[in-house]
Amino acid sequence: MGLIVMALYFATKNIGKFREAKLLMTEYGVSLERLDADKVEIQSDSIEEIASYAASDLASKFKVAVVVEDAGLFIRPLKGFPGPYSSYVYKTLGLWGLLKLMNGLDDRRAYFLSAVAYSKPGGFVKVFTGKVEGFITNRPRGHGGFGFDPIFKPMEGDGRTFAEMDPSEKNRLSHRARAFRKLALWLRERKIRC
Ligand code: IMP
Repeated sequence: MGLIVMALYFATKNIGKFREAKLLMTEYGVSLERLDADKVEIQSDSIEEIASYAASDLASKFKVAVVVEDAGLFIRPLKGFPGPYSSYVYKTLGLWGLLKLMNGLDDRRAYFLSAVAYSKPGGFVKVFTGKVEGFITNRPRGHGGFGFDPIFKPMEGDGRTFAEMDPSEKNRLSHRARAFRKLALWLRERKIRC
């Protein structure tokens, strides 16, 4: 198979997400461009399905290779809530609202899941997932990152929340970095240069 050279667009309005993904992909020699477009968000319990649908829709609309990521925070004692509804819960309840729901709970286990969907015009879609296990803190800590970062403490870390880490430290552990790393290796295997 010969070398394929093409542009790769990450469709997201979240600058924090884009920065993390861009930094990670640069380590693998992949250049990510940001596509500031509205995504179709289907209603589904599966973040893989949500990301796949949006990626193939944008790839056929813009006629370029597109990556879409859908992520969520799954809190074990809340049976996985807010999961696919994380963005809505973040906007409505916020950090303190979510902490209130966990008042008195000793079990603070939670994980982040990321689904990164890569799509080309013509209907091709491939999804990569990443996961990080951790705990919900009792109060927000740190000012870095975005979303639920101030209340999420990764299990493999040193006790700091994601918001207390710089982007490269977060990328060593995060769900997003794990999913994007799989995409980078897959592109490399196929000799696709972006
Ligand atoms: P999205 O639908 O993929 O944008 O993610 C849903 C929500 O999950 C976001 O609005 C964030 O609140 C939260 N989220 C996803 N990834 C992260 C992360 O890396 N850190 C903190 N919060 C995150």
